[in-house]
Amino acid sequence: MPSRGSSSAEVLLDVLEALPPGHRLWVRGAGRSLFPLLRAGDSVRVMRCGPGSLEAGDVALMRQGRELVAHMVVSTRPWRTASLLGAPDAPGGVTLGRVVALRRGRWVLPLPRPLRLAQQAASTAWAWPQTRLVSRRVWDSLFAGWSLPLRRRLVGPLEVRLLTVGDLDPLLAYASERLVVSPGFLRRQLRERWGLPDAGRRGAAAGAFDAQGRMHGFAWVDSYRQEGLQLEGVWVRSLVVAPRVRRMGVATGLLECLLDEARRQGQPRVLADVDDDNTVSLRTFERLGFRRADATLTRQANEAWDATGRSKRLVVVERTL
Ligand SMILES: CC(C)(COP(=O)(O)OP(=O)(O)OC[C@H]1O[C@@H](n2cnc3c(N)ncnc32)[C@H](O)[C@@H]1OP(=O)(O)O)[C@@H](O)C(=O)NCCC(=O)NCCS
Repeated sequence: MPSRGSSSAEVLLDVLEALPPGHRLWVRGAGRSLFPLLRAGDSVRVMRCGPGSLEAGDVALMRQGRELVAHMVVSTRPWRTASLLGAPDAPGGVTLGRVVALRRGRWVLPLPRPLRLAQQAASTAWAWPQTRLVSRRVWDSLFAGWSLPLRRRLVGPLEVRLLTVGDLDPLLAYASERLVVSPGFLRRQLRERWGLPDAGRRGAAAGAFDAQGRMHGFAWVDSYRQEGLQLEGVWVRSLVVAPRVRRMGVATGLLECLLDEARRQGQPRVLADVDDDNTVSLRTFERLGFRRADATLTRQANEAWDATGRSKRLVVVERTL
């Protein structure tokens, strides 16, 4: 039985492990390995069984450390698993059962065993760079200019504004889908810096909200020291707009909002570092008057990021306020 003070995830793991073979249970939070089939907030129905009952192509629910993850089984001898799109997983973990269905909101998707054929085809095709390129283009075309009027109608009007401490829930929901930033960091920053009233605010975060209060775009500006990087000045970070609202001026609105706030806080300039091949992002910054920073600052930023293990080249842009 779970000990007193166990987290809900640990309790769930204990419950799962105690289930007799053949019993089924809905479980939430099974990792990102089945994306795009499984997204944050979706549930999986697991049938309790050991690894001996699984075959290549099944979806296994596994315990890795204190986390639950759903993976495609690629082979059983040796035991190998991969993401739905074919990226191999690190070995290890305890098999808890077979995933027999997925649930998103009211929709339930049964996972019959022939799914393995589809997964094998998907991962074989995905191994070809051409497939990835074509699929990326098809995906991008869905959010190109032609679909703008439809997307505007579907999403409705958006309000771009600075975040307050009351925006924690939509922020964490958005971050779980789109950002690689820890919820703990966001929670702390919002409570202690970004979400405070004018006089106490340090740095700032901005979001784009629909009429139901859901967040569709986000960015923040703050000192890089907040993230442990030894770089002077305040930098725009985590600028991400949900694909369904791209090309509607959301990023432009978020940046304008953050520039106004940085100016109000007395900052002389705002900086941003952008992957050198991210032309859309560079264009967005340039249209707002950001210009390339000098070579020394660009080198310092790249060195600071290289030291964290990142390898992509960054362009640094700056805007004097
Ligand atoms: C980059 C990003 C934030 C832009 O968001 P956005 O809300 O679509 O941007 P905006 O609508 O404000 O567009 C600003 C300008 O960028 C350019 N732009 C935006 N999307 C574009 C696209 N798909 N193709 C070409 N140009 C584009 C346009 O010049 C646009 O102005 P215009 O439409 O008036 O010509 C968004 O594409 C995104 O989230 N990308 C993934 C994450 C990312 O790369 N973040 C930046 C990290 S530094």
